[in-house]
Amino acid sequence: MEWRIVKDYEELSLMAARFVAAQVKNKPNSVLGLATGSTPIGMYRELTRMVERGELSLQQVVTFNLDEYIGLAPDHPQSYHYYMHHHFFSHVDIPAGQIHLPYVEKGAAQEEDCEACEAYDRMIEEHGGIDLQVLGIGRNGHIGFNEPSISLEVGTHIVTLTEETRQANARFFQRIEEVPTHAVTMGVGSIMKAERILLLASGSDKKEVLARLYAEGVRTELPASLLHVHQDVTVIADREAAAWLPVGESLKG
Ligand code: GLP
Repeated sequence: MEWRIVKDYEELSLMAARFVAAQVKNKPNSVLGLATGSTPIGMYRELTRMVERGELSLQQVVTFNLDEYIGLAPDHPQSYHYYMHHHFFSHVDIPAGQIHLPYVEKGAAQEEDCEACEAYDRMIEEHGGIDLQVLGIGRNGHIGFNEPSISLEVGTHIVTLTEETRQANARFFQRIEEVPTHAVTMGVGSIMKAERILLLASGSDKKEVLARLYAEGVRTELPASLLHVHQDVTVIADREAAAWLPVGESLKG
């Protein structure tokens, strides 16, 4: 796992966008795994600028998003479908047919049996797997919506969100009751199969979980810790998120 500590959110966003752009320049038909949350918004903004300035084309890129709430329509302002179109897809040149997000109807939400989930994994496979997976990290160490647990699911599946995650995401809703209780997420297997992984963390809210990720071994109670056994993971963290990391001060800029 390679750690890059940058000054602030602006630097993180620029470095992350350059990382993704380099991937696409190297392989124009890259399959990108994309994340939501507040952290990658700046990265999407910078990528949009690169496309607008004619420095980057995403025309051949194929995207697969990590997760989505269950029970929010795609045009709901808090759905990840809406987020992705608002922050990224509506501003760049990726053809609509190359964009994929998981979606499960509320009534169809059966944790044990999810046809849409299997179809999503098959589609990723059919595209040759993910070349670069962008990830955020939850304060409890979740990646996608893979919550701390005694076991983690391999493929795309339905999850019951933890109270902690619902509370953390309540800031985007008017009332906590409006935060969905379930979501669909790629599993840790789908994430770990990506050729390369880019994990982004910003702000002091993440300093504790990053310190745990840095210091602890692999355990399902800290889902992001699985990334320790992946051969190509880059973490970009800003100074606030890296505050509790025992890495050399020089790295912290
Ligand atoms: C959300 C998403 C994750 C995201 C994480 C952190 O619940 N499901 O994919 O990485 O939590 O979000 P943020 O970047 O807003 O801190």
